Amino acid sequence: MQKKVQDIRENALEACKGANTVQKLNEARVKFLGKKGELTLVLRSMGQLSPEERPLFGKLVNEVRDELESSWEGREQELAAAEEEKRLLAESIDITLPGRQINRGTIHPITKIIDETKKIFMEMGYEIVEGPEVELDYYNFEALNIPPDHPARDMQDTFFITKDLLLRSQTSPVQIHTMEKKQPPIRILAPGKVYRADSDVTHSPMFHQIEGLVVDKGITFAHLKGTLQLFAEHMFGPQTKIRLRPSYFPFTEPSAEVDVSCIICSGEGCRVCQNTGWLEILGSGMVDPRVLEKVGYDPSEVTGFAFGVGVERIAMLKYGINDIRLLFDNDVRFLDQFTS
Ligand code: DAH
Repeated sequence: MQKKVQDIRENALEACKGANTVQKLNEARVKFLGKKGELTLVLRSMGQLSPEERPLFGKLVNEVRDELESSWEGREQELAAAEEEKRLLAESIDITLPGRQINRGTIHPITKIIDETKKIFMEMGYEIVEGPEVELDYYNFEALNIPPDHPARDMQDTFFITKDLLLRSQTSPVQIHTMEKKQPPIRILAPGKVYRADSDVTHSPMFHQIEGLVVDKGITFAHLKGTLQLFAEHMFGPQTKIRLRPSYFPFTEPSAEVDVSCIICSGEGCRVCQNTGWLEILGSGMVDPRVLEKVGYDPSEVTGFAFGVGVERIAMLKYGINDIRLLFDNDVRFLDQFTS
């Protein structure tokens, strides 16, 4: 039996040494030292020995067990260390590699102009409002004093959805929505998308306008002029002059188109201003009494002014962009130029 214990010892030590993974080592432990392992079974068969032999045999088995336990422990540590090293090597990072570049977004020039305009008017106490892009004919035309068959409809190549429903061709309908909901005093700014069936280097089927409306007791043309002068100075620089030219819009009377002194040549005359020294930037006027009546206001009580700015036009002038389509191509080489 002692020979058997020695054989188990040798086999076990060999298995221990030969195990090259933690899992194999555990399997070998079960085989030799487990509850039904070879060494345990030998110990159980001790009953066959004479009472004198038993203590000696017991001692031998215990010694072998201790020896095996400690070689298992040692081998286990070796294997764990080797596996850890392998893992660390596999996970190692080459810190000499250059970092990956992270692309940063920029604010779109259209958003920049809208944000800047909002800020200018919010400082004057205007409220920012929005209106629907799918609009009723009534709000886009009729309530703005443009009845069916009015020639002014021709100028706005409108996308109709049904006879009464359309994509708004201007932000002016927000004036009507606002006045229907509220009583004067009104001081609003309404930026948003508008749509017209038109496309070339200066026209896009979708573009942006910013509508302004002020209605209160005693609002005059002087208020309109002063407000627009301030807007021009903030948007284009303190030296900017404005010029009002008589014009016609069905929803304002009188109406004016507003020019700013050319921001390229400061009024000297250049290619951008076609040698006039002036650049047209918006349409405006005093709200027509018929528009006020349509929303239930009394034109003998209150008056108002309104204006509509083309955002793309301002962006193109301010940033020297010569093709409106660049604004919607989403080419990062173009957009990257508008940092901060
Ligand atoms: N809605 C006009 C257009 O798209 C622009 C405009 C002109 C708006 C005069 C106004 C205004 O509020 O008073 O051409």
